[in-house]
Amino acid sequence: MNRRQFFTFNAVMLASANFASSAESKHHNHANMNHNIMSHTSNHNMPKPNVVSNNIQLLDRKLFPSNNTLPKLTLLKNESEKKGFFRGTIVIKESKIEIVKGKPTTFYTYNGLIPGPKIEAYEGDTIEILVQNHLNEPTTIHWHGMPVPPNQDGNPHDPILPHQERIYRFSLPNGSAGTYWYHPHPHYITAKQVYMGLAGTFIVRAKDDKLAHLQEQDLVVSDLRLDINAQIPGNNIYDWLNGREGEFVLVNGALTPKISITGTQRLRIYNVCAARYLQLYLPQCKFIIVGTDGGAIESPQNVGDTLFLAPAQRVEVIIEAPNGKYTLQNLYYDRDKMMVKDNKSPLSIANITSEDQDTNVFKSLPQILRKLPALSTPKASKKVIFSEMEMDHSSHDMKHMESMLPFMFHINGKTFDMNRAEFESKVGEVEEWEIINNSHMDHPFHIHGTQFELISSTHNNKIIKPKFRSLQDTINLRPKEILRLRMRQDFKGLRMFHCHILEHEDLGMMSMVKVV
Ligand code: C2O
Ligand code: CU
Ligand code: CU
Repeated sequence: MNRRQFFTFNAVMLASANFASSAESKHHNHANMNHNIMSHTSNHNMPKPNVVSNNIQLLDRKLFPSNNTLPKLTLLKNESEKKGFFRGTIVIKESKIEIVKGKPTTFYTYNGLIPGPKIEAYEGDTIEILVQNHLNEPTTIHWHGMPVPPNQDGNPHDPILPHQERIYRFSLPNGSAGTYWYHPHPHYITAKQVYMGLAGTFIVRAKDDKLAHLQEQDLVVSDLRLDINAQIPGNNIYDWLNGREGEFVLVNGALTPKISITGTQRLRIYNVCAARYLQLYLPQCKFIIVGTDGGAIESPQNVGDTLFLAPAQRVEVIIEAPNGKYTLQNLYYDRDKMMVKDNKSPLSIANITSEDQDTNVFKSLPQILRKLPALSTPKASKKVIFSEMEMDHSSHDMKHMESMLPFMFHINGKTFDMNRAEFESKVGEVEEWEIINNSHMDHPFHIHGTQFELISSTHNNKIIKPKFRSLQDTINLRPKEILRLRMRQDFKGLRMFHCHILEHEDLGMMSMVKVV
């Protein structure tokens, strides 16, 4: 520890000591003091994060079936016959799925499926989803990116307790067409429930979709860790520090599947990994972006042979790939992780066969997809600072690291407290948010209930404006990067914003804005 680190650490210990002496010291003897101090101040009674050994033996890659046809996502059944009304049921439970012969894996599933069922609806529809929680722990469903009122949006404040159920109700306003997903958001155990398998997709379609004539495929990219018994182990210390990256990178639940693209198709790509960054690379091909998290962009954008997706981001693309066979790869992305040495070689994630392709796909697309409304001048501003407690990363005192986990990741200098909103905003008012990454590693910023627009990024003293306008709900920040975002909240209530590396979120890199 250098001097500064020493002070930071002591400040925490001092604050803890006061707390412990007032309420708890009677029950604990002095020998136990250190331990008790930590457990009682862990960001507002945060249970000590469960940390497993990092020496768990992992499943041999050869045992995981691969190179099969890409599975199609199963649609959630609409149980309603009323026009403009979608009613569905999602059952959350433990399911044993036999991926490896003779060794069924225990997952958490939505309706027994990995990934969960795909929900498809139209702008203007009313949605009613009955959710039954058959897990032995609380959960919620959060409708990531969607304009859902806070009390229907699966905030950690509204858990569905074990073996209870609830109905989520909301409607989809005009302009909300987009590529969304849903996942659990319970207090402290979001990362776990996601790595155990809980994530599903939600497509809202526009009535005047300029690309409605194209065939579509969904590519849901997730990652999975399996031990030698094909079971999902808990998080080790490196997972907690950096976010977990499961060794098996799956597309629609399959390992290096075969994808065939016939003619011009719209692909919706979802990064539902807890922490893995995607830098997709398709040699000799071009990714043409037609939509982002919040739906269509104004006109198609050719971004070349690589496509970046931070955790939780989605994109709609058309791939320009002359007839032939290609390997879709994920290039190594250096996000300055703590204490780990990564393998930097590219990873094959799918095999693509392309047929019946136009010679100039870009030209064949409609050049106007949508007109995004002009941004009005912001009436208020907010400042969000991501930071980390300074630690001596070269020290290998793992027990110490472990005990510090609940204090390490901050928003505006604090860890999450579900009883305290950092900001207040006025409903319907446009605001400018300045997001600052004051730490040494990348963090993806996400806010609930709205789609924002990037105005500019400042990095290495250079101000960069986005190449095209788009709506997003999640955006990455490089170390020391500053982003300016413009957004508006259309419902009253509490909105979460956080780092979408789910381990960081669970460790308290999350805060709230109260919309009044
Ligand atoms: Cu994707 Cu707060 O969540
Ligand atoms: Cu969200
Ligand atoms: Cu983070």
